[in-house]
Amino acid sequence: MSGSLLIDNIGELVTNSPGDGPLGIRRDAAVLAEEGRVVWVGPSAYAPAADHRIDAGGAAVLPGFVDSHAHLVFAGDRAAEFAARMAGQPYTGGGIRTTVGATRAATDDELRGTVRRLRGEALRQGTTTMEIKSGYGLTVADEARSLRIAAESSTETTFLGAHVVPAEYADRPDDYVGLVCGPMLAAAAPYAKWIDVFCERGAFDVDHARAILACGQAVGLGVRVHANQLGPGPGVQLGVELGAASVDHCTYLSDADVDALADTAHSDGSGTRTVATLLPGAEFSTRSPYPDARRLLDAGVTVALATDCNPGSSYTSSMPFCVALAVREMRMTPAEAVWAATAGGALALRRDDIGVLTPGARADLVVLDAPSHLHLAYRPGVPLIRQVIRNGVPQ
Ligand code: NIG
Ligand code: FE
Repeated sequence: MSGSLLIDNIGELVTNSPGDGPLGIRRDAAVLAEEGRVVWVGPSAYAPAADHRIDAGGAAVLPGFVDSHAHLVFAGDRAAEFAARMAGQPYTGGGIRTTVGATRAATDDELRGTVRRLRGEALRQGTTTMEIKSGYGLTVADEARSLRIAAESSTETTFLGAHVVPAEYADRPDDYVGLVCGPMLAAAAPYAKWIDVFCERGAFDVDHARAILACGQAVGLGVRVHANQLGPGPGVQLGVELGAASVDHCTYLSDADVDALADTAHSDGSGTRTVATLLPGAEFSTRSPYPDARRLLDAGVTVALATDCNPGSSYTSSMPFCVALAVREMRMTPAEAVWAATAGGALALRRDDIGVLTPGARADLVVLDAPSHLHLAYRPGVPLIRQVIRNGVPQ
């Protein structure tokens, strides 16, 4: 579609523009997009003419969801592991190696098909930006091809060669760290924007994690960390120390962890803030306690919500589901949850062109089948995404 696009007759427009209340809400509004960007936001009655028009019919419109944490490049599934968990087995992350085996055995086209299927699923649920990690290859060739395939579907790609130590290196983790920092990073970096480490007991300790993240930084990758998911640990403070854009999971936090995150938010300058990205799909699917979102928000920490879409701990691509969980189970207000799933995700990716609907932003937006953003949590499990517009183009 070429030419300008007007979305008018919007009953409730979430702009996330600071200053107009928590979500920057405008009533009876319209948005004009041109060449993929928002060029005008204002009262529907004064909307300029455009080449194409979508009448929102009084519905709510919000920025497209920004899912800043997803593992889409894998083969197989782990439904039996999920069933065992629901029968009482704990989640330990041990199943990652099962998926590594299946992923290594898959063809490029099989992996590509899975990424496209899940990316399409997410788009239909309103996700206009999705970060995609590697991490189920864990050889030089398999990590490089995972990222090459991820880069076909997203510019937000993350090298997670340090997901777990693969079985063939079980007795020599130092050697695996050397592989990750050396040839694997060299092969992965051309396709990656970020580097991530699973810093957790049973995965990578803080010294290994620091070494790997520093190698990534040295070649220009931004830092993100899987931190404090299964128990208390050093991951969050390591992320803060290295200036990570985001520390993800944050299920078990000490007061010092919360303070360290809050300090980065206060020093602000969006270049230095470390976002706490909460992944309630993982707690849902592993039947674990949810992170304490209220404690983080009350301390002034910037919070994002993401799906963690992966075949083990959280096989959902649905940001509306995560919003509903965050409100019901984590005591976030609906406004906080919607902000965290849009503007929060953008900050977790250090992006200022998405997650907001203000002139100059990318024209990524969602028309709900509902009059208000409140309905995302109020009507859980209901397909409320009527229309998705990405880059100014109806999908
Ligand atoms: O973010 N925690 C580490 N990685 C994923 C789970 C991966 C898996 O179980 O396959 C997560 O939850
Ligand atoms: Fe994850």
